[in-house]
Amino acid sequence: MLNKIPVFKPCLSEEEILASREALELGWLGPGSYVKDFEEKIASLIKVPSDRVIAVNTGTSAVHLGLLLLDIKPGDEVITPSFNNIADFHCIRYLGGNPVFCDIKEENLTINPETIDGLISEKTKAIISLDYGSALHDYSAVMSVAQKYNIPVLYDACHSFASKNSQGDMVGSQSDICVFSFDPVKNITCIDGGAIIVSDASSASKLRHMRQLGQMQAQEKLYSNDRSFTYDVEDIGFRYHLANLHAAIGIQQLNKLDDMRTKRQMIYARYLENIKNEHIILPPEINSGIFPFIFVVRVNKNRSNFIAHCRENGVDTGIHWQPGHQFSFFKECRTGHLSVTNKISKEIVTLPMYPDLSGNEIEHVINTVNTYKV
Ligand SMILES: Cc1ncc(COP(=O)(O)O)c(C=O)c1O
Repeated sequence: MLNKIPVFKPCLSEEEILASREALELGWLGPGSYVKDFEEKIASLIKVPSDRVIAVNTGTSAVHLGLLLLDIKPGDEVITPSFNNIADFHCIRYLGGNPVFCDIKEENLTINPETIDGLISEKTKAIISLDYGSALHDYSAVMSVAQKYNIPVLYDACHSFASKNSQGDMVGSQSDICVFSFDPVKNITCIDGGAIIVSDASSASKLRHMRQLGQMQAQEKLYSNDRSFTYDVEDIGFRYHLANLHAAIGIQQLNKLDDMRTKRQMIYARYLENIKNEHIILPPEINSGIFPFIFVVRVNKNRSNFIAHCRENGVDTGIHWQPGHQFSFFKECRTGHLSVTNKISKEIVTLPMYPDLSGNEIEHVINTVNTYKV
């Protein structure tokens, strides 16, 4: 019997440990040269100018800053799938706004652009669109609705860092505001971290100040591990910067991106090919540009029995996510018809998928799923 297989496992090795040691020995623990390096490496990967990437301490901070940039005010509405991470709903609430919940498409569980239109009101100030699991959403269809009403879109790409769309463009390179998360379970981790990518230089500069308590003039010095004690503050600011230690880990993760992508794609393909159970609905096939994040199946009968069956066989599972409109705190929010969300949220189960999953473990997960009986 194998040891328990966790649903997530970070892909860390000697390189991250050495880089952490080096960053600690440098003695400059706050934001500094490693952060600049990390941002530049992300910019070159995504193919955007290097000043447009602003690294922050979490994906949640990136969403919050993105919504601030869109000037969300108390009473404003932001349309988002109810099938989204709670971080986004809270960020709307941080600004006094209200999430308005739209539905998703059954084929890949990403935002259904056709369900946005009917929810637009005079109060609508933004749309949050997002990728889910290992699937990209139809960004251009969301943009068509948004442009019809002149509403900005925040692209939450926390699940799709380093993925390419079907036109070959890197996620984050084509949108006005895009956010990533590098939390402990993401495709690359900084332990905790995030980034926001914007298409114009003045927003980028504004965000650099906002992430650092609004301190103007102090940013360039920090990038060379130095500090300025004189600066002006012109706007609201937060303590949302990324620290050197976290960026040092992120840089090492970026160095092994291709290897991690290949391994995840291999596991995704093996699951798709070999999981065969009449009660299990598989996620869609993916193209070669995708950096798969999570492998989410749907159990069409008795999900809790399936989860228990996996547990008994040493396979840990997850549920991503519970829908927003069902939480007490968001129950009063306006919604459209959420038939797909309501249906699939009772069925979804996340299976283990990460670069360090061994051949035997992959086989074991497949056998476990295939031997599930209702
Ligand atoms: C879609 C989405 N948005 C935002 C976040 C928040 O990111 P973080 O955990 O880095 O704060 C997450 C985290 O899992 C997420 O999945």
